[in-house]
Amino acid sequence: MQIPFTDKESFIFDKIATAAGNLGLPCYLIGGFVRDKIIGRPTKDADIVCMGDGIALAQEAASFFRPKPVVAYFKNFGTAQIKLPEMEVEFVGARKESYQLSSRKPDVEPGTIENDQDRRDFTINALAISLNKEDRGALIDPFDGVKDIEAKIIRTPLAPLQTFSDDPLRMMRAIRFATQLGFTISPETFQAIIDNVHRIRIVSQERITDELNKIMLCDKPSVGWDLLFRSKLLHEIFPQLADLYGAEYIDGKGHKDNFYHTLQVLDNISVHTSDIWLRWAALLHDIGKPATKRFEEGHGWTFHGHEMVGAKMVPKLFARLKLPLNEKMRWVQKLVMLHLRPIGLTKENITDSAIRRLLFDAGEDIESLMMLCEADITSKNPLKVKRYLQNFELVRRRLLEVEESDKIRNWQPPISGELIMEKFGLTPGRPVGLIKDAIREAILDGLIPNEYQAAYDFMLQKAAELNLQAIE
Ligand code: CTP
Repeated sequence: MQIPFTDKESFIFDKIATAAGNLGLPCYLIGGFVRDKIIGRPTKDADIVCMGDGIALAQEAASFFRPKPVVAYFKNFGTAQIKLPEMEVEFVGARKESYQLSSRKPDVEPGTIENDQDRRDFTINALAISLNKEDRGALIDPFDGVKDIEAKIIRTPLAPLQTFSDDPLRMMRAIRFATQLGFTISPETFQAIIDNVHRIRIVSQERITDELNKIMLCDKPSVGWDLLFRSKLLHEIFPQLADLYGAEYIDGKGHKDNFYHTLQVLDNISVHTSDIWLRWAALLHDIGKPATKRFEEGHGWTFHGHEMVGAKMVPKLFARLKLPLNEKMRWVQKLVMLHLRPIGLTKENITDSAIRRLLFDAGEDIESLMMLCEADITSKNPLKVKRYLQNFELVRRRLLEVEESDKIRNWQPPISGELIMEKFGLTPGRPVGLIKDAIREAILDGLIPNEYQAAYDFMLQKAAELNLQAIE
């Protein structure tokens, strides 16, 4: 099999091959670059493995490019990287690992290309292409990686137990690649994940969350979360999400399985947005359900207040998952908190005031919130889906109408705190807040329009009630 390179790729690899020739080091392209070339996915960075010193090869190779790229190297790992305008290339010396009976720590020593391929995570990632004079372009595929690509299978090159012992993160990687590529994990490899889930505990949260975020960005992220659940890795890394699983029945009354409902919502929203935070909001929207689940006699299952409980859980979950504790977290929290509000507006006789309040509370995020609500429709009955969507369409129309007339979305108080203080000779304190809040409430309730003069008159009236004297 000959893998065709683009002109740019050939240009780069020719120079690396010449550098390797100068040093007398056999070298190979390996890993994700080769895999993606064969699959036909866009390729980005390339990994080069050589039989010798990877850092020396990177330095020699760098001298062939103009302008000469900086070589970033990590002596401890024996790896080096050069950043070219169109590609990042990483260099490493081939390694062989041998386990001593007396120690669980592997001895890493220089090895052949075959030794290096043995140590790789999956057969589809263990493919190499020679950059050597004798057999330039030859594909070295000791584990039938090409066959596995064709059959869309993720499989470890060696016994899965050994591959996963070398680096338990590979269990997450198997699931992430299955989700990204639409591949199936081979039964033996999947069984080994099931048997070793507890070993994920030794992996840093940052590396785990990196994989979760990659799963989140896939076309159908539910595939990954379902595999995490079925292997029980999820129970180790994110038990609160696993807790959503299952439907309980009392007196013949059940509730829907909130885990698979959540995955459906996540897939639904992923059709419309690749915004990772909106996807996280979809994943977390019902996270408060297990804690609020009750069975009410004569009524059935309820989850009262799950949006509030869920929103409260978000910071802790973000902290545990080492997701950023910044405005992104607060944004997700806000959407979880508000996710039931638009449904409340699909009933009949909804006042403008209720619409104004949602515009005020959601502000700029109203569109994301509506997307979340629409994604939350997971009924299997097409007639119901149609009806719910039509209801939301009406809500959207009302939101537009009210926003057009009242301009609530980007709320700016028509009367500032400074003006109130100046007018009544006040210093910052409770009366100023009382007046400001009263003006806001009057506008949201529709008692006065969202305009300066109306708000000014209302301020005078409110101040009189508080016995405040205006300074003339
Ligand atoms: N690798 C491995 N075990 C790991 C991580 C990486 O064996 N835990 C090997 C694989 O051969 C992999 C290569 O190192 O192909 C490069 O790793 P990385 O850049 O993380 O992944 P890619 O396969 O290139 O894929 P992607 O860039 O999509 O993550």
